[in-house]
Amino acid sequence: MNVFIQTYGCQMNKLDSALITAALQQAGFGLTDSVKQADVVLLNTCSVREHAEQRVLSHLGHLKHIKQTRTELVVGVIGCMAQRLGAELFEHEVVDIVCGPAQIPLIVGLVEKTLTNKQKVISVTEKIREKKKDAQSRALDDFECDYDSDKRQLPGQAYVRVMRGCDNFCTYCVVPFVRGPEVSRPPGAITEQIKKLAGEGVKQVTFLGQRVNAYEYKAGDKTYCLADLLYLASDVDGIEWIRFVTSYPSQKFYDEILKAMAGLPMVCSYLHMPAQSGSDKILKKMNRHYTCAEYLELLEKAKEIVPGIALSGDFIVGFPNETEDDFQATLELVKRAKYKNCFIFKYSPRPGTIADKRLADTVPLNIKKERNYQLLSVQEKISGELSGDLLGREVKILVEGLSKKPNEGSGQNTNAPQLTGRTADDWIVVFNGPESLAGRFVKVKITKTSPFTLFGELTTNGAL
Ligand code: 5AD
Ligand code: SF4
Repeated sequence: MNVFIQTYGCQMNKLDSALITAALQQAGFGLTDSVKQADVVLLNTCSVREHAEQRVLSHLGHLKHIKQTRTELVVGVIGCMAQRLGAELFEHEVVDIVCGPAQIPLIVGLVEKTLTNKQKVISVTEKIREKKKDAQSRALDDFECDYDSDKRQLPGQAYVRVMRGCDNFCTYCVVPFVRGPEVSRPPGAITEQIKKLAGEGVKQVTFLGQRVNAYEYKAGDKTYCLADLLYLASDVDGIEWIRFVTSYPSQKFYDEILKAMAGLPMVCSYLHMPAQSGSDKILKKMNRHYTCAEYLELLEKAKEIVPGIALSGDFIVGFPNETEDDFQATLELVKRAKYKNCFIFKYSPRPGTIADKRLADTVPLNIKKERNYQLLSVQEKISGELSGDLLGREVKILVEGLSKKPNEGSGQNTNAPQLTGRTADDWIVVFNGPESLAGRFVKVKITKTSPFTLFGELTTNGAL
């Protein structure tokens, strides 16, 4: 039996798909990257914006056609949309399995049951904001440890979830309603997992959490925070680089984390800390708990304690009642922050969120698009200046694999394999080299730059 898995959305979903893949393979399923050869199609879905959900619905529409001639094909929807839309998706004529993010340890059983009984199954959390029962948390933790194998999405790299869920309730955000309450995993389980991964050849771990810097675990008299995890991971033989995403702008544990970053050579000097807006009025309506000035102070502190730190952020444009002045404040913030890059999103009302219940989606789409474009242009200029500084320099990178598309005009041989990798401070670097370097560290001299990508030549003869 062959399974095809399509993943939408964030790193959390990528990690869930990797775990599910390993669990299915261990249970004897084969994996295919073509729907045509698949007996089971699983869509791991995202609900963060309406567009992400529409893509899944149109994928289901496509599968409906396929199922007309291949009635035995099993289709499962897992992830955030499964949790959000539960019963509604279960009614969808093409869907056989609905499985929420907290139910992924059950996925092999659900698939097997559907194949044998030819019956639909649904498993989601009924009261998503209720704290999980210990047994359920343990099941998720065991699933995480058991199936976190070296068959990663990217060679030599692994995501390690340190927390689940979110308690922040930003008014626009669906995550607290689909991923449930915030729970930090025990540091012992995390360290064991990192040791296991290092033993399998993993060189870089990325800690994942919706507010990863809010990690907090009490064991006896000691309270562990993210900085403690950074120290623990640095002690694991074989781990050379450590990253963490996503940071929430807050003073809590901040000094400790920055000091750990500055003091530990393995911790990459990269901080992804979304601001969302530069207007205090909008930040308040978003329930973000900080002002623009406080946010900028946090960035200043990061630059001071970790010299050369690379910063990135997220922004939402067109939040309800965002005026031209509010947007100008966001532009100003971006100019002052000097991010390496930022991710910009058009506000998308999400059913069930506080913003959707209380605020009308007042900003027209054409204005959202225009603001998105303007913000991106400002960032592009800043990114271009920062990347330009790297011209002629030699940088160390961890190679990810073959570049997805040939980079014309990069001054490189587009007929020879082009690889991509990332520097410790998260710059994407494209260069010619053999595919065997994937998952290894190399040095590359930068010969050309563009705002978001660097191009270079290998200076090491093989991996470092
Ligand atoms: N509309 C637009 N963007 C959103 N994000 C989260 N919720 C929404 C929404 N309803 C963005 C935020 C967050 C990123 C992951 O997605 O910027 O940081
Ligand atoms: Fe959503 Fe805010 Fe939690 Fe991030 S911190 S997941 S934006 S509610």
